[in-house]
Amino acid sequence: MKKWNIFLEAATAVCMCGCGAGVGTKGIEVNWMGDTAAVNVNVAYKYLLLPIEEDCGEVQVKLATDDVWMDVRLAEKEVDYYVPFEVSRGRTVLIVGLPEGAVALEKMRTAKEWQAENVEYYRPLYHHTPSYGWMNDPNGMIYNDGEYHLYYQFNPYGSKWGNMHWGHAVSRDLIHWEELEPAVARDTLGHIFSGNSVIDSDNSAGFGEGAIVAIYTSHGERDGQQYEVQSLAYSLDNGRSFEKYEGNPVLTPFDGLKDFRDPKLFWDGDCWKMIVSADKEMRLYQSNNLKEWEFLSGFGEGMGAQPCQYECPDLFELPIDGDTKHVMLMNINPGCQWGGSATEYFVGDFDGSGFKPEGDPHEAKWLDYGKDHYAAVTISGTGDRVIAIPWMSNWQYAGEVPHKQFRGANALPRELSLYKKDGKCYVAADVVSEARGLRQGSYPLGNASGAAEFSLKGGEAFEIELDVTPAAAARASLELSNAKGERVTMYFEDGRFVMDRTYSGLTDFSEHFPLATWAPLSLCEGGTYHLDIFVDKCSVEAFVDGGRIAMTNIVFPTEPYSLISLISEGGEAKFSGITTYGLSL
Ligand code: FRU
Repeated sequence: MKKWNIFLEAATAVCMCGCGAGVGTKGIEVNWMGDTAAVNVNVAYKYLLLPIEEDCGEVQVKLATDDVWMDVRLAEKEVDYYVPFEVSRGRTVLIVGLPEGAVALEKMRTAKEWQAENVEYYRPLYHHTPSYGWMNDPNGMIYNDGEYHLYYQFNPYGSKWGNMHWGHAVSRDLIHWEELEPAVARDTLGHIFSGNSVIDSDNSAGFGEGAIVAIYTSHGERDGQQYEVQSLAYSLDNGRSFEKYEGNPVLTPFDGLKDFRDPKLFWDGDCWKMIVSADKEMRLYQSNNLKEWEFLSGFGEGMGAQPCQYECPDLFELPIDGDTKHVMLMNINPGCQWGGSATEYFVGDFDGSGFKPEGDPHEAKWLDYGKDHYAAVTISGTGDRVIAIPWMSNWQYAGEVPHKQFRGANALPRELSLYKKDGKCYVAADVVSEARGLRQGSYPLGNASGAAEFSLKGGEAFEIELDVTPAAAARASLELSNAKGERVTMYFEDGRFVMDRTYSGLTDFSEHFPLATWAPLSLCEGGTYHLDIFVDKCSVEAFVDGGRIAMTNIVFPTEPYSLISLISEGGEAKFSGITTYGLSL
């Protein structure tokens, strides 16, 4: 593990009187002008490193030459960690709202480069995470020229939500991600909230043939009132950098709705369509040029789990029985059956102007039955494959989870397909086949009846596959545990598949964290269940019968789980084809 590679400047004379006198370190000089601290960086280094204390309130920071203030939790008493603030475009940084005695002023550093190498115990080993800062929703995802672009809600100035930018990572296989510079930065219209991107092959928007056009929500405040409007940005260099459209915003809500966000675009034969979450309904629009939008309909109100708040919608087609059906994904927060946020879906028909779910519109179907699966939307441009990436957290405690250097990880990408059970259509969410490439060694453990125990080798990141045949009216469990008795228990009982993380390790950072989640086994064909479990440093993802049930829960064991126990209670279960794999990038 490496520490920050920072180039410290020795502190020199410091006067914290705040009366306009110079306050400085070598290379850094602070002058007060009223309530504003002006920090001059007098060395030609790229970064001013800002000391963060997570419990502090936000103060406003910007380059004197910029228009956009960033909200930063600058340290008042203690430094939790540093974030880089680029000063190559201007050497004076203004800070408003910082108490004069705040330690941030003496602990600021200049640095030639920023090396965010991992310093954190709970950093996942094979899931996508930002190297530092805060991440929530994956958004704007697109496949182009052999690369998957993963943009995401990103705060570069701290590991708590704020200053929404679109962070950026690329991958050729959905598993190995390379972090790039943030693609779209917070601006004077507001935070850059979620949205999506498409390839404008015919140059309908006039930004250039084959441009990647991104649409996102600008979220801001005017006269103390929140507003949400839709804006465009385009990239002519395969998604590396984006120019914002000077005519932004391109869509404002006709009724002044304040929750109007997370647009998702798709090409519908002869024009662009866009679905936007509008508080408790979806709104559908159409356009020929991505800039002018005509309202078509509002729909979806009252559907599924209620009460709820709609966010991050998606609408796409999937084949079934030689035909196709439409699927509407609705991320809801709150509304999750376990509290907080979750992804539900509806299967039905889309007639070009509205979506009608088949069957009972009040029935809630969940794309994942765990508590840490949110803001899942699909990647544009993947042809016949429909692939979604979920954020692996829950708004109930996302800001409290025991991380510092970064907060937020994405779950493994999932390939979506439809299947029928008892005359109804459901979506299976199975881990993408590319995840098999993580396997570094396989350890076949054979079969077991009743009970067995196996120790895990190298067990911080592993996969377990097996078939489980529970005995009638009995419990068949698979438990992962460590020497401290911390454990995650998965079991089949009473027609349910359950994952219990009550005693999984650190849980007391939120009263909403310790719990068991479950899914109905009626989604499966029954008898014998195929289980594929992916464990990383701080997560467990279970896929039953190819994703008919997916269940994702984060966990924080204080030492790695090292034992697998197979347990039968009330009747002898059969466990067969048990295999573990070490996983690594
Ligand atoms: C969902 C969400 C979106 C919004 C984004 C803000 O998690 O609330 O509705 O665009 O996060 O970061």
